Amino acid sequence: MVIVLLGPPGAGKGTQCKRIVERYRLAHLSSGDILRSEKAAGTKLGRKAQRYMDCGKLVPDQIIIETMVGAIACAGGDCVLDGFPRTVVQAAELDKELAQKREKIDAVVSLVVDDDVVEERITGRRSCPVCGAVYHIDTLKPKIEGHCDKCKNQELIQRPDDKPDVVKQRLKTYHEQTTAVVGYYADNSQEILDIDADRPVDDVTAQIFEKLDSLVTAR
Ligand code: AP5
Repeated sequence: MVIVLLGPPGAGKGTQCKRIVERYRLAHLSSGDILRSEKAAGTKLGRKAQRYMDCGKLVPDQIIIETMVGAIACAGGDCVLDGFPRTVVQAAELDKELAQKREKIDAVVSLVVDDDVVEERITGRRSCPVCGAVYHIDTLKPKIEGHCDKCKNQELIQRPDDKPDVVKQRLKTYHEQTTAVVGYYADNSQEILDIDADRPVDDVTAQIFEKLDSLVTAR
């Protein structure tokens, strides 16, 4: 089963993916997390990606397609794609790759939320550099301020691309390049499951599960 989760930066893709993978037993393939771990490991890919990520631009299609196609193959096909595809070229390549394996996308879930809401979410986000757990300074506080609940003494950090000026550029990039992916799927008769993501986390999860449960039952 292949699920694509679309949505602007800070829409809650990572937060919801963690719950989706648990319920439907899928691999969570986050293009951003993969690039960040390459960056942390100091690989050539990570160094190249950093130049684009730090200024809120997209990593070139060729690089990310190769990376994600490899990750999907490693996951054995059953996965949730978080942050990929992000351009029409990426979406078309993903379809092509899946078709070669006689597979297809089972669901495209689109988190719909306004820019002013996501700006507030992103600038308040804090993450654990060790386990990747995500918190928010107002809406999802850790038990001990500034520290990860799971990795006890680990201090939480703010992602370098979560600074206000980079967030503005990421949103601009999203509107210029990623919103067209929704149109691509509509043109290709791929149903899009719209979710009102301007709701508390549990409400958003409930909307997603309701739609995906009926899809899983119908398979
Ligand atoms: P990536 O890491 O994918 O960033 P993003 O898409 O901008 O998404 P975020 O991780 O910022 O947000 P999210 O939607 O996961 O929200 P979260 O759940 O954390 O990409 C980073 C960069 O990598 C890109 O800019 C690009 O350079 C590169 N890249 C990645 N993929 C690429 C691709 N395919 N092609 C080219 N380049 C690529 O939630 C955010 C905050 O809000 C958290 O604090 C959370 O607690 C809180 N929150 C979540 N849901 C709610 C809610 N319902 N109510 C209140 N608060 C909430």
